[in-house]
Amino acid sequence: MLPFDDGDSARRLAATYATPDVVGQRRRTLELLDVRPGERVLDVGTGPGQLLASLAAAVGPTGAAAGLDPSPAMAAMARERCGDLATVSDGGVDGAGSLPDGPFDALVCTQVMEYVPDVPAALREFARVLRPGGRVLVLDTDWDSAVWHVDDRDRHRRVMDAWDDHLAHPRLPSTLGPLLRGAGFDDVRVDVIPLLNPVWDTDTFSAGMSRMIARYVPGHQGVTDDEARAWLADVTDRDDYFFSLNRYCFRAALP
Ligand SMILES: C[S@@+](CC[C@H](N)C(=O)[O-])C[C@H]1O[C@@H](n2cnc3c(N)ncnc32)[C@H](O)[C@@H]1O
Repeated sequence: MLPFDDGDSARRLAATYATPDVVGQRRRTLELLDVRPGERVLDVGTGPGQLLASLAAAVGPTGAAAGLDPSPAMAAMARERCGDLATVSDGGVDGAGSLPDGPFDALVCTQVMEYVPDVPAALREFARVLRPGGRVLVLDTDWDSAVWHVDDRDRHRRVMDAWDDHLAHPRLPSTLGPLLRGAGFDDVRVDVIPLLNPVWDTDTFSAGMSRMIARYVPGHQGVTDDEARAWLADVTDRDDYFFSLNRYCFRAALP
């Protein structure tokens, strides 16, 4: 089970995505996408719908914002958050025609492609539902960019390897530029959005994420319950706390 498929996990992810770190990430994402009033926008894998709500506000009453998510718990949260401002459907991108036809002016897909098995097919599907000249924004993490100050580095490496198990592509960003061009997109640009927590604070991305990781890893790559607990204690509430991680934000457009 993915760590956001049940209602509790979905709520925990939404809380982590409400921290100032991820609010800032969404603000930057919106600036980069530069959505204008009247545009039609699709948010693939909308999750708790926080970005979708902002997209709906940006396109305004003359535009349209739509989101979809294959997790019923996530789609329900997005529906509740967005109300009448956006439409939310159940479903995901499968690379075989599952997306609504559009045509859309812009499509966003943040922190989703790393879960999608066939990325080239999914990107071709994005191109299919965009109008000529339409824009795409794909944001993903390279989990090798995660820096956490720990005492036990061997255990930390095993825990992070076990966390990789929940992803189809833990290191997707370095391949995304060529994949976007291969799907027919031009003008590929990439920005990095760092998440930096140089001091311990419960209201941060890394504090929420550490609890999600500790819940997920037991039973993966031989990590035990005790090791997961000890790892969480190692990264929690230290005076010399340090965490940083990079999101990579790719933008491209159809000819
Ligand atoms: C880490 S959350 C990101 C949510 C949201 N995009 C955000 O950035 O706030 C990943 C989401 O991707 C969804 N997902 C997984 N596989 C998908 C697929 N094939 N198509 C669309 N969404 C998918 C999950 O259900 C989950 O809600």
